[in-house]
Amino acid sequence: SVNVNDPGLITLVNKLQDVFATVGVQNPIDLPQIVVVGSQSSGKSSVLENIVGRDFLPRGTGIVTRRPLVLQLVNRPAPARANGAPKEEADMQSSDSAANVDEWGEFLHIPGQKFHDFNKIRDEIVKETDAKTGRNQGISPLSIGLRIYSPNVLTLTLVDLPGITRVPVGDQPKDIERQIKDMILKHITKSNSIILAVTAANTDLANSDGLKMAREVDPEGQRTIGVLTKIDLMDQGTDVVDILAGRIIPLRLGYVPVVNRGQRDIESKKAISAALEHERRFFEEHRAYRNKHAYCGTPYLARKLNMILMMHIKQTLPEIKARISSSLQKYTAELSSLGDSLLGDSANIVLNIITEFCNEYRTVLEGNNQELSSIEL
Ligand code: GDP
Ligand code: NA
Ligand code: MG
Repeated sequence: SVNVNDPGLITLVNKLQDVFATVGVQNPIDLPQIVVVGSQSSGKSSVLENIVGRDFLPRGTGIVTRRPLVLQLVNRPAPARANGAPKEEADMQSSDSAANVDEWGEFLHIPGQKFHDFNKIRDEIVKETDAKTGRNQGISPLSIGLRIYSPNVLTLTLVDLPGITRVPVGDQPKDIERQIKDMILKHITKSNSIILAVTAANTDLANSDGLKMAREVDPEGQRTIGVLTKIDLMDQGTDVVDILAGRIIPLRLGYVPVVNRGQRDIESKKAISAALEHERRFFEEHRAYRNKHAYCGTPYLARKLNMILMMHIKQTLPEIKARISSSLQKYTAELSSLGDSLLGDSANIVLNIITEFCNEYRTVLEGNNQELSSIEL
């Protein structure tokens, strides 16, 4: 599937967690969070949903996202069960018989209630947004916390934010622009945030709210990726080739053009898989993009994010190693003071696992580094 949750990366991080837990190091790596910024209706929620690969975010014209949504993906291995054995829990919430019992969402404001039906997750986001903002397009900086537990995700945080808007409507405060900007700044100032600066391709890049906000907190462009949405809505004969080539507003990590589902696709409940297939064909067949279609679309954006996460893990490696060896020293010292040879054996087993792991880990990282340098534009 096409999302940030690359199976290789999931396996790697899970192994890290397992091995380190054995020697008492909890959460060895703190992965960066991914935050979307841009104007209202530029396609932020659509981009986020496509990279997660699940349908669950409210999207649409107008100010749909009116509170920050802090989405924590939590990797949770599926419990081992015998073939054909009944699944451990009945799917109580879902009318969708295909719903997977190993994957569910849980809101921080309703602890303990598992949502296996992703449509119900969307309904709850809408309901909880209205509860704090009033129905008439009000906004609130209080974030909604949602965790998604799944064996197929990387333990990672993504943040969906309201878009920048200037003219207050309905219940919106007079200083709505300032309030939304403050909300955004709060989430993108953290240096471990990767900023997806979203701009609709049928608007002027020079006026991009997303790029302007990103530049305020990341002037060197070290953690900002430009995302150009609505490529399918550009006037005939126009394209974003000059932007991609860095001839308009250069960005160190570059731009990725995408085609998300349009308003009609949302109304007809077009599946993500069908939308991704449509996107793939769009770039492969388009006169301006076909010779660079490998650098276009959601799959490429997801790969770019994966590479950034890999680099982050690599940079964290020396610190992790230091933590392991100090834990190991402590562990070994405790064991020898006990003088138990049986425990000594298990220490050796742990040591072997870690050595093996480090070798494997190096191979994966080096493979990805080569890929990273070959795809950088
Ligand atoms: P947000 O307000 O920035 O979160 O934007 P949404 O994701 O809610 O999208 C706003 C509207 O733009 C929705 O009607 C989407 O269907 C539409 N939209 C977003 N991206 C694209 C795109 O790439 N192509 C088309 N045709 N419509 C898009
Ligand atoms: Na919108
Ligand atoms: Mg939105």
